[in-house]
Amino acid sequence: MPDIESLLKETRRFKPDPAFAREANWNKKTVAEHRKQADKNPEKYWAARAKENITWFTPWKKVLDWKPPFAKWFVGGKLNVSYNCLDRHLEEDGGARRNKAAIIWEGEPGDTRVITYAELHREVCKFANVLKTQGIKKGDRVVLYMPMIPELAIAMLACTRIGAPHSIVFGGFSADALRDRIDDVGAKTVITADGGFRKGAGFPLKQAVDDALKMTKAVDTVIVVERTKQDVKMKKGRDLWWHDLMKDASPKCAAAKLDSEHPLFILYTSGSTGKPKGILHTTGGYLTHVTTTFKAIFDIKDSDVYWCTADIGWITGHSYVVYGPLAAGATTMMYEGVPVHPGPDRWWELIEKWGVNIFYTAPTAIRTFIRLGDEHPNKHDLSSLRLLGSVGEPINPEAWMWYHKVIGKKNCPIVDTWWQTETGGIMITSLPGVVTTKPGSATLPFPGIDPEIYDEEGNVAKPPGGGLLVLRKPWPGMLRGIWGDNKRFKEQYWSRFEDTYFCGDGAHRDKDGYFWIMGRIDDVMNISGHRIGTMEVESALVSHKGVAEAAVVGRPDDITGTAIVAFVSPRGGTKATDAFKKTLIGHVSKEIGAIARPAEIRFTDALPKTRSGKIMRRLLRDIASGVESTGDTSTLEDFSVLASLRGDED
Ligand code: WT7
Repeated sequence: MPDIESLLKETRRFKPDPAFAREANWNKKTVAEHRKQADKNPEKYWAARAKENITWFTPWKKVLDWKPPFAKWFVGGKLNVSYNCLDRHLEEDGGARRNKAAIIWEGEPGDTRVITYAELHREVCKFANVLKTQGIKKGDRVVLYMPMIPELAIAMLACTRIGAPHSIVFGGFSADALRDRIDDVGAKTVITADGGFRKGAGFPLKQAVDDALKMTKAVDTVIVVERTKQDVKMKKGRDLWWHDLMKDASPKCAAAKLDSEHPLFILYTSGSTGKPKGILHTTGGYLTHVTTTFKAIFDIKDSDVYWCTADIGWITGHSYVVYGPLAAGATTMMYEGVPVHPGPDRWWELIEKWGVNIFYTAPTAIRTFIRLGDEHPNKHDLSSLRLLGSVGEPINPEAWMWYHKVIGKKNCPIVDTWWQTETGGIMITSLPGVVTTKPGSATLPFPGIDPEIYDEEGNVAKPPGGGLLVLRKPWPGMLRGIWGDNKRFKEQYWSRFEDTYFCGDGAHRDKDGYFWIMGRIDDVMNISGHRIGTMEVESALVSHKGVAEAAVVGRPDDITGTAIVAFVSPRGGTKATDAFKKTLIGHVSKEIGAIARPAEIRFTDALPKTRSGKIMRRLLRDIASGVESTGDTSTLEDFSVLASLRGDED
């Protein structure tokens, strides 16, 4: 099996700006020192971070207990996540953060709330008492199915305060998906809202809970936040209003002293086939990982307004909207609605209005804004921005350049952060003020993280070279298992190479040791014996000014084994003609070589994506080869996209 080949020739380099570097939380010297310590003794390195960034009630006895694939970090240590996110900020530095904004929230209709650390602490204690009154005990699982409102963060922190692991189900999931997750996790309590605002209308949540609970017996309590004031049915003896329960709740609640390995949350992630996996994260290691990475990578200062646009229903929202930022005492912004409502400049308006300094979003959003046109960001003063981040997919170099120029005004370092639901926190990333960036590369491992690229036999693919991305050493934020399924945990992640985690991505490393993530290994195409990742062909297509977005897949071909089919959505103003198809095929040949020439181009308005914005190439593969899709489609965002793609064939 040959290496995955790298065809992309990206030569642009962006050196850290000396002015930024001078003020950065971690400078060249710090990072060199950190890397040295971490290479020498990663356990000692992480122990130092756990001491520096986390408040412990009881110190640990052993840093790491590693019986592959099962890790325990900070064994014997006791702590509480909500204490670290709240209480300590009320006391430290003479109480300087008591009245600092913990959460700046804006609803889609434009209503706003600014919640200080002292107030968030009170609300969390009150709701923790509510949970206790409802009979929730340490270890009981609570499902949260809520819109992006402050009560979601309050509920999460209240769960952590009493040691009840939460499982958040993204509000866009259906009643069926909700029921599966409630059953799998064995929850007795669901916290929801009447609905949430999306594209100017209230979408129902309570109704979906009612439907889900018709099909499962386990749940005995449903707590409902009033948000949209839409009609809901409240079932007597089961359903309770949040505001009724909170009225008389005491604002005093001691934080439970929890074991470092106490389950913190379970978050479901969909594999490409089969039923979703409940990824289990625990307390001490996870909090150490997300807090350390958050402070260093986002260079957070006390005066910053930080905005990560992810929904809290995804891991990015858990780690970098709520836990990392609050543990660091930062101001984290939350926005309820969609990016383009009421107008295509909603996000830029929010950045201007709240003076956002640090902005973290996904390539899928960036490509959407590219298509909508530069006039929308250009209408707003974005000069408060000083750092930009990207996560979720490989960012195509041209999208990176647009982000750099049109949003960052060439003034902001970009941190491209590679990680997964399973890794808990960021693993491969640039460090602003220190690492020279290359558009499209997530650059280098975070100190204490040990990624490597293997060939199929488990030999190291020496740089420059491509293959399978693995993690050789355990890390504090790593998943502790799949809820209730150790067998699947071992098979899925640990069976390919001995005692080594395989993440499912293909990657390439250049001669400088920089990592270039090439997408899911299942999507790699074998063209005449050359293994080619999807990312590079897509990036070549997107680098043409007439293309907004592209997805490529392989379909069986008699001659080449696999032929490349490209699904392309043109930018506004570009006509989807046969002549344009020819232009694009020529463009790809010129950019990355004839081997990667698409055999076929299909124009489409939209691509099938998951609800978190990832292109579902598996479905496109079926369409390209003209077969019915049999795999799971429950995570597909918009079914009409598939129908129209299939219709194109007729
Ligand atoms: C998969 C994990 C990590 C939080 C959001 C997604 C892809 C993620 C990058 C990046 C290239 C990336 C990988 C990974 N991915 N970040 N910076 N560059 N690819 O979490 O849903 O668990 O997805 O997203 O394929 O394996 P997730």
